[in-house]
Amino acid sequence: MDSNSVFPRISLLVFLFICAAYNAVNAVNVFNIRDNNGIPDGKTDNSQALLSTWEKACKVDGGTVLVPSGIYYVKSALLQGPCIGQTIFSVMGTLMASASPLTQESWIEFNQVDGLSITGNGVFDGQGSSTWAHNGNHNAKASSTCTASLKLKFVRNSSIEGITSKNSEMFHLHVNNCDGIVISHMSILAPIDSPNTDGIHVSSSNNVRISNVNIATGDDCISLGPGTTNIDISGITCGPGHGISIGSLGKYPDEKDVAGITVTNCTLSNTLNGVRIKTWAPSPPSIVSNVTFQDILLKNADNPVIIDQQYCPSNSCSHQGDSRVQIKDVKFVNIHGSSSIPDAVNVVCSKSMPCQGIEFSGLNIIMNGNGQPTTATCSNVNADFLGNTVPTHCS
Ligand SMILES: *[C@@H]1O[C@H](CO)[C@@H](O)[C@H](O)[C@H]1NC(C)=O
Ligand SMILES: *[C@@H]1O[C@H](CO)[C@@H](O)[C@H](O)[C@H]1NC(C)=O
Ligand SMILES: *[C@@H]1O[C@H](CO)[C@@H](O)[C@H](O)[C@H]1NC(C)=O
Repeated sequence: MDSNSVFPRISLLVFLFICAAYNAVNAVNVFNIRDNNGIPDGKTDNSQALLSTWEKACKVDGGTVLVPSGIYYVKSALLQGPCIGQTIFSVMGTLMASASPLTQESWIEFNQVDGLSITGNGVFDGQGSSTWAHNGNHNAKASSTCTASLKLKFVRNSSIEGITSKNSEMFHLHVNNCDGIVISHMSILAPIDSPNTDGIHVSSSNNVRISNVNIATGDDCISLGPGTTNIDISGITCGPGHGISIGSLGKYPDEKDVAGITVTNCTLSNTLNGVRIKTWAPSPPSIVSNVTFQDILLKNADNPVIIDQQYCPSNSCSHQGDSRVQIKDVKFVNIHGSSSIPDAVNVVCSKSMPCQGIEFSGLNIIMNGNGQPTTATCSNVNADFLGNTVPTHCS
């Protein structure tokens, strides 16, 4: 052996050693549910297996829960933080719920976690079909619990990406009391006749960005509840579904205001509604302000643009008094496409708190089929129609 060949060999050995060390570190951070008694037979309850896998990952910075391919039945799981550092929840297989109804608020819930990343191409299968029959009377099933398939509560600086949610009992994804959440490239699927299966419901949360999500479900594709601020929604395809909705608001006393909402570049196909703000009547005071719906394509929407301050499904309210939710500074910019009904724009504001600063520009909604212009109906509002719009004004 001459001295010239020694050096490369040593560096190769050093290199291999570094690789091995690097892999070992990585492997130490990955906690596979299979190694924690997880059984992907679709019937063994893996709740405990998922929980113990989570607890290990949560104790390591960069700890990763791995759910590999296979069907893992999980009755329910509360995955609690805070964790040591960043935590990754990687789903490559299917997490499957029970086919019988749950009585708690969520099936799989992440609570008090900062720096969580839910990722992978796997599926959260809520198996909700047996509960849908009970969801019909709007105020939820017999237990009146609104069970979400996936819930984030007190979660901050976190993301969800890639996964699919299908057939949730009620909400697919509920973001509650969170700050700094990025949701992208998800798919959300449930049949058109599955009641209350909102795609993404956000409540009491700040700074949430939702982009490039395909949603086909039985209720609102996205709904924003009280106390939602700085919410940016873009690149959503919705349909079937009930469109993108702020509300319903004003059902309970002391609701927090809604402010800083933008909805842009979305396509809504064959939806029951398009873009909507709804408040109950009567309702206690709160404010909705600084809302922009922009670049929305409607394909055969049933009620393309709605502000409804007399919201009262299934005649469940007294109708004694007005909504006292003040709606102001709402811009509809470049909302275009086709409606299934002639009265495409419906702005019904509160008599005691008329809407302020409602503005339409670049509006062009025609009748599906014959291409006739549509009309607009308004009450308790002076809406501005800027430039050439169809419909041209409120009647
Ligand atoms: C979230 O991220 C921002 C910006 O990176 C940082 O300033 C903030 O402290 C983080 N909050 C938490 C709770 O980690
Ligand atoms: C608009 O949304 C579509 C998805 O519907 C996406 O593919 C596209 O990149 C978005 N465009 C912009 C400019 O964000
Ligand atoms: C309106 O909301 C956007 C975020 O959607 C925010 O950037 C902007 O500062 C807000 N404007 C006012 C006047 O509050």
